[in-house]
Amino acid sequence: MSPEELAAIHRAAFTQERAWASSEFSDLLANPLTHLEAAAHGFALWRGIAGEAELLTIAVAPVAQARGIGTGLMTTWMSKAAKTCTEAVLDVAADNISALRLYQHYGFETIAKRPNYYRRPDGHADALIMRARLPFPVSKKSSGELRP
Ligand SMILES: CC(C)(COP(=O)(O)OP(=O)(O)OC[C@H]1O[C@@H](n2cnc3c(N)ncnc32)[C@H](O)[C@@H]1OP(=O)(O)O)[C@@H](O)C(=O)NCCC(=O)NCCS
Repeated sequence: MSPEELAAIHRAAFTQERAWASSEFSDLLANPLTHLEAAAHGFALWRGIAGEAELLTIAVAPVAQARGIGTGLMTTWMSKAAKTCTEAVLDVAADNISALRLYQHYGFETIAKRPNYYRRPDGHADALIMRARLPFPVSKKSSGELRP
């Protein structure tokens, strides 16, 4: 998936936050510590440093959401991360219900909060910092790995 395609999916998926430019994706992908997991209509970008895996972003195009693509991407990146890392971290807006549901299936728990971090048309939303142990517990929801 090209930086332009990544930027297009990101722009369509993140309706409330700043869209990342294709040049930002190019820069991230040039770093050997950054990994891209791509699927039809979606992708996850993560980075593994010193035993900690950080989810930089995950996005599925709105037309393809709620069909299990995000679940498949989570299983793929966390399975790969578990080979070298013992924990995974991410941050998410507290009002992002679909992302929170997704992360909870993978054992993520809130460890810190940044109050009013995200700006919204009618105010602000907190950022939640979440952490999960790796390898993640395999549940019925998380058992299907995406094919490359
Ligand atoms: C979060 C995101 C990646 C999930 O991808 P997805 O392909 O829709 O995920 P899945 O189909 O595997 O569903 C995962 C969970 O989200 C829920 N969900 C997905 N889309 C939803 C929607 N529009 N409204 C409510 N819940 C939704 C599903 O019901 C499922 O939860 P459940 O299994 O408990 O029912 C996707 O919604 C997205 O790209 N959102 C915009 C970008 C974003 O917020 N990224 C995360 C930033 S931290």
